[in-house]
Amino acid sequence: MTDTARLAWVDGECRLLGGIRAEFAQTRPFDGMAIGSAIHLEPKTAALVRTLQAGGADVIATGNLNSTQPATVEYLRARGVRVIGGVTRDRAERARHLDSILDAKPDLLLDNGGDLFLRYLQRPYDGLIGGTEETTSGRQVLEPHRAELNMPVLVINDSPIKSFGENEHAVGQSCLESYMRFTNRITNGERVVVVGYGWCGRGVARNFRNANCQVTVVDADPVACLRAVFDGYRTAPLRQALGDADLVITVTGGGKSIGAAEVELLRDGAILANAGHEPDEIDVSEIESVPGATAATTLPDVRSITLPSGRTIHVLGAGHMFNLAGPGALGNSIQSMDLGFSMQARCLEWVATGRVDARSCVVPVPREIDVEIALSYLALKRA
Ligand SMILES: NC(=O)c1ccc[n+]([C@@H]2O[C@H](COP(=O)([O-])OP(=O)(O)OC[C@H]3O[C@@H](n4cnc5c(N)ncnc54)[C@H](O)[C@@H]3O)[C@@H](O)[C@H]2O)c1
Repeated sequence: MTDTARLAWVDGECRLLGGIRAEFAQTRPFDGMAIGSAIHLEPKTAALVRTLQAGGADVIATGNLNSTQPATVEYLRARGVRVIGGVTRDRAERARHLDSILDAKPDLLLDNGGDLFLRYLQRPYDGLIGGTEETTSGRQVLEPHRAELNMPVLVINDSPIKSFGENEHAVGQSCLESYMRFTNRITNGERVVVVGYGWCGRGVARNFRNANCQVTVVDADPVACLRAVFDGYRTAPLRQALGDADLVITVTGGGKSIGAAEVELLRDGAILANAGHEPDEIDVSEIESVPGATAATTLPDVRSITLPSGRTIHVLGAGHMFNLAGPGALGNSIQSMDLGFSMQARCLEWVATGRVDARSCVVPVPREIDVEIALSYLALKRA
């Protein structure tokens, strides 16, 4: 499938967004407004951006680290979106892209990871009404800044629909698909360690178990470990779990899990992959800097690091979210993102039209929006 055909396929499959787009073309909730967006630039995002444009928004967008798809950038630019930068893994370069977004003084921000709002607090401007934050990690970043922000910021992640629809059911699927696409390796009988047993980790563990892997769960929270036990998994402390792992997937949102000390415990040929928002869960540069270690790119976006012990470990996607990376990355399923991005569109509409105020600062999606999106999806299934 060509990139253009895929963008058209995804756009057509985003049926909830399609309905909202038709409505927005009539109601024009963003007329005269600019929306600054800093979320993964891939085909599903293009469907969201076109929906916001239909509502009258002038959209200025940049991507996240490593996940920007050039064909999506081209597609959006051809449709009048100001897209800043291209694919990058360089935090300093991305910080400059965020500054370019804020230079345009958008009326609304669509954030993913909290970076845009955090930067806004360092260099505020008049006229920002509020916006949305997509992720768990972003909510954690923004929560301590509620008083300074003092504007409506709705957290998409904290809708139950996003939590189960994307984090639990879609991230695990796309991790399994990406692992096989990156490596072409068998899953049957493989020993997989999942670090982090929250919404995403539960789906990752379940999808790999369903693919006949032996899954061990690691979590810093004993309650999460107990839940994993009740779900039928083996649990162990990280260092113990690593010893016989064929594949380790980190998905905590809680900072570094795997560095130089941990890779010493891995078997020859073990694979490391991160699905958490920040690439710091696997400290690739520390691992590559182990004295005497050598590193080479052995497959597209796969680094193979040979340690002084002679054992080689492989890292997928340089430690960036591997379900959004690598050759032919597809990301999470279209329908799961159609749900989440429909909530984005509705939440931005509510902020733009004053249906929520500063009391709704870093809070979950209003229940009314959840209900409307659920009913719309159910209607499509029953049609
Ligand atoms: N890759 C994707 O497509 C995608 C999609 C959605 C969310 N995410 C990201 O995935 C991460 C997890 O999201 P979630 O919704 O599952 O969060 P969550 O809060 O539901 O779960 C996180 C779990 O990790 C555990 N944890 C935290 N730090 C840990 C550590 N150092 N070691 C072991 N366990 C630790 C917590 O106890 C918790 O059980 C976040 O960074 C989120 O932004 C990624």
